[in-house]
Amino acid sequence: MQIARITCIRLFALALAFAASNALAQQVATPAMNAPNPAQRDPALRPLFKVFGEKPGLVAIVNTAMNNLVADRVTRPYFINADRKHIKRELVDQLCVIMDGPCTYSGLNMAQAHQGLKITTAAFDAFVEDFQRAMDKHHIPFHDQNQLLARLAPMHQQIVTH
Ligand code: HEM
Repeated sequence: MQIARITCIRLFALALAFAASNALAQQVATPAMNAPNPAQRDPALRPLFKVFGEKPGLVAIVNTAMNNLVADRVTRPYFINADRKHIKRELVDQLCVIMDGPCTYSGLNMAQAHQGLKITTAAFDAFVEDFQRAMDKHHIPFHDQNQLLARLAPMHQQIVTH
């Protein structure tokens, strides 16, 4: 199980590295205003919404994730002076919509939201790990975690700019 997990994390890291190699070109080719929909509703993920405990479950997981992000020396500098309540609210709505929950995402697209933050690949990877730890803490099965992470990973192209 542990080995499968490490392999999976490595595969994920590999996918991110591949995305990173294209990130700069994408940044030039894709102005922030034309970035992909950050909350693409996917009816196939509706079962995930239940597994995550619907909106209250998402709120709890995102709260834990934000605590992890602030405690993590790699991600802390990005979040310490940010409006964390606002980010949590938007992130919950974004995840809720992606999982076809009864929510609306009215936040920025991922390029606009992270513009000027100089987010590195290392910071993105740390963000993912902090989020995984939060899902672990709330007993989300590994397979379900990966289903969600597979939707978030491509956003790397809009978020990592440094
Ligand atoms: C797939 C990964 C990520 C997702 C889905 C995500 C999602 C979001 C959302 C929904 C917002 C709020 C947008 C709005 O204000 O309308 C936001 C803002 C923010 N995110 Fe992310 N984010 C991700 C990765 C990261 C990473 C890796 C960092 C830094 C290590 C980061 C740092 C921030 C900060 C600092 C803000 C607030 C910016 C401001 O106040 O202007 N995010 N993010």
